[in-house]
Amino acid sequence: MEKNESKILIFGGTGYIGSHMVKASIKLGHPTYVFTRPLSDKTALLNDFESMGAIIVKGALDEHDKLVSVLGEVDVVISVLPYPQVLDQLKIIEAIKVAGNIKVYIYTYIYIKMIITKRFLPSDFGVEEDRVSVLPPFEAFLDKKKKIRRAIEAANIPHTFVSANCFAAYFVNYLLRPSEQKEEITVYGTGEAKAVLNYEEDIGIFTIKVATDPRTRNRVVIYRPAINIISQLELISMWEKKTGRTFKKVHVPEEEMVTLSQTLPDPHNIPISILHSVFIKGVTTNFDLGENDVEASALYPDLKLTTIDELLNIFLHDPPKSYNAAFE
Ligand SMILES: NC(=O)c1ccc[n+]([C@@H]2O[C@H](COP(=O)([O-])OP(=O)(O)OC[C@H]3O[C@@H](n4cnc5c(N)ncnc54)[C@H](OP(=O)(O)O)[C@@H]3O)[C@@H](O)[C@H]2O)c1
Repeated sequence: MEKNESKILIFGGTGYIGSHMVKASIKLGHPTYVFTRPLSDKTALLNDFESMGAIIVKGALDEHDKLVSVLGEVDVVISVLPYPQVLDQLKIIEAIKVAGNIKVYIYTYIYIKMIITKRFLPSDFGVEEDRVSVLPPFEAFLDKKKKIRRAIEAANIPHTFVSANCFAAYFVNYLLRPSEQKEEITVYGTGEAKAVLNYEEDIGIFTIKVATDPRTRNRVVIYRPAINIISQLELISMWEKKTGRTFKKVHVPEEEMVTLSQTLPDPHNIPISILHSVFIKGVTTNFDLGENDVEASALYPDLKLTTIDELLNIFLHDPPKSYNAAFE
C-alpha cells in the first residue's frame, strides 16, 4: 500500500463502480471514507471495507448538517451515486458550499511547496456528456448529469469531470452473454463502430489518481487508452478464438433501435438509446480531444492496464457477475 495524504470521501462507494474506487483509494494509501445509507443492504461489503481501513459514515443525503460535517473533514469528494440519484447531488453541492471546500490550502515545507486543492468528482463516469449528440432518452439522462456539472462550475467548486466510457466487464457481459452458453450474439448495427471498454478495476485506479492530481483540476478527463478501443465484431472474433466456438451474429438495424427508443416507455427507452449512441454512432471515440481535455492513460503512461484480451481470459476462467445499471 502506498502512503498518500488526501482524505477521500466516496458517495455510492458500495456500488458497482464505487466499490472499485474505494478499494483503489485504500490501495493507493488515502484515508478513505464511505458514505452509506443507514439501511444499506451492503453490510458484508461495508465490513470488508472497514477491515481494510475505510471509515464508514452512515447518513442520508437529506441530512444537511451531517453532510457539512463530514465534508469539512475531507479533501476530495467522489460521487458514484446511481443515475436515479444524480440530481440529489445538488444536496452535496449545497453542503460543499457551506463546508467551505472551495478553499485552497498551501503548505510550505522547506524547499517543497505543495498545493492540495479540495476537489469534487460528480457521478459522471460514462460518455463525455458535454460533447456528444445522442437520442432523446439518453439526452434527457445526460441533461441531468450536465445540470450537476453546471451547478459545480457556478459554485466555483474545484472539480474534475470524468468520462470513463464503457465499463468493460459490464459491457462484455451485456454483449457476449458469456454465462448463457447461447449460439447467437446480438450485434447492434453493422458492429463496426469503435467503442472504448475500460476494465472496472482500472477505472477505480484512474479515478483516484485523477482526483488527487493537480494537472486535472477543473478539467475534463477522458479514459480513452488506445489499447481499449474495439468494435463489436472484433470483440466477438476475439471471444470466438478464446472459446473455440463460432457464434451466429444477429444484427439489430439502426432504424429498429431508433424506433424502440421512441416507443419503449421511460426508463426502458434509455438502455437502447445508450447502445445506439455507443455502438452505432461511436460516441466514445468519434470526437477529438480538445485543448482542455486530458486523456487518462497519457497522464500515467507507466500504469499497467488490463487489456481486453486479458479481460476475456478473466471471463473464460472466473466470469464476473453480470449487473444492470439502475435507471428508475
Ligand atoms: N460507463 C458505464 O459503462 C456505466 C455503467 C453503469 C453505470 N455507470 C454510471 O456509474 C455511476 C454509478 O453507477 P453504479 O451503477 O455503479 O451505481 P449503483 O451500484 O447502482 O449504486 C451505488 C450506490 O449508491 C447507493 N444508493 C443506491 N440507491 C440510493 C438511494 N436511493 N439514495 C442514496 N444512495 C443510494 C448505494 O449505496 P449504499 O447502499 O451504501 O447507500 C449503492 O451501492 C452512475 O453515474 C452511472 O450512470 C456507467
